[in-house]
Amino acid sequence: MTTATVQFVRKTAVTAPGVEAQAMVARLQSGVPDRETLRRILATDLADEVEVIRQAAEQALLTHCGDTVRLRGLIEFSNRCTLDCYYCGIRRSNRAPTRYTLALDEIVETARWCGEQGYGSVVLQSGERRDEKFAAFVTEAVRAIKAATRSDALREGVGITLCVGEQSPETYAEWYEAGAHRYLLRMETSSPRLFAALHPAEQRYASRVDCLKTLKAIGYRVGTGVMIGLPGQTVDDLVDDLFFFRDIGADMIGMGPYIPHEQTPMHSASVRDVPARMTLALRMIAATRLLLPSINIAATTALQTLAPDGREQGLRYGANVIMPQATPLHVRREYTLYDGKPCLDDSAGQCAACLEGRITSVGRRILRDQWGDATRRV
Ligand code: 5AD
Repeated sequence: MTTATVQFVRKTAVTAPGVEAQAMVARLQSGVPDRETLRRILATDLADEVEVIRQAAEQALLTHCGDTVRLRGLIEFSNRCTLDCYYCGIRRSNRAPTRYTLALDEIVETARWCGEQGYGSVVLQSGERRDEKFAAFVTEAVRAIKAATRSDALREGVGITLCVGEQSPETYAEWYEAGAHRYLLRMETSSPRLFAALHPAEQRYASRVDCLKTLKAIGYRVGTGVMIGLPGQTVDDLVDDLFFFRDIGADMIGMGPYIPHEQTPMHSASVRDVPARMTLALRMIAATRLLLPSINIAATTALQTLAPDGREQGLRYGANVIMPQATPLHVRREYTLYDGKPCLDDSAGQCAACLEGRITSVGRRILRDQWGDATRRV
């Protein structure tokens, strides 16, 4: 920051932080967002400024996407994983979780239940495997879910998002043909340096970017995202993440605070405290909404892990997607990506009931019986 900028910040902070925040928002919405404005939005902790930014993000959401919250029932169907990400609780080297893969019938039943709740969409998420047996299993699951969830309300069955990692173009195409139309593949960070610090050498930044491009080319609605508050992550890295979301043409963003998991190598690395990671994550949501007003943005479970009302706060900062936990209770504890994951003992029914109240408490309503895709960006 130059001396002139520092004086400018001090002066506006004392006199009218809200006015300066309004100018930042206007610059961002003018269509030529500059790095410095995004840095300021992510870095400010002046309450007045944050509130102006939040309100502008919420307004952008209401204008471009309406007041509905789109639900995707989350089915964590397998915790078997061949990768060894340094931050993740189900990484290959962690011997603690009992490894499971749900039977096809149970996956289909769970998806059917989600459809009956009016969720409109499901997310099939698992650890990463690239063997043929796995690919065939996912194809079969997608087909079976489509067949089992067609109804008067949902003529084409529930919308299916896959979240099962990096795969070959052929496999992605096969799943798309089978009926999955959205794919969630988080970049985790757009910084090649940080990416390399989070993953073993065989996991490559470039191949993840290639996968995102392949998914787009096939026709998927593509979601990506990052973890916020990672050890060594700077505000500039997060600004780069925002530009990455824009440049890759993301239809959806799912991101949340990084939360250390005790049984992972990164657990002892120092991180910002909980309130700092929480507010940073919320400001990232607001900045994403202001930059890309018509996309879908998730209020993630990780937000709720750090604050009981974390997902509602996410909605207030511009998010419009929630993934209610639908994973069968008997395996839920084995799918612990980070410490303190909530809702481990609540049945899917309890999660559904609790959610509705949370959503209406922030003045939103649930979009029922629809896939709830974002309108395509031009
Ligand atoms: N903290 C926060 N998010 C995590 N994920 C995995 N481990 C953690 C963690 N320790 C997220 C990753 C992954 C998604 C399924 O869960 O972003 O893409």
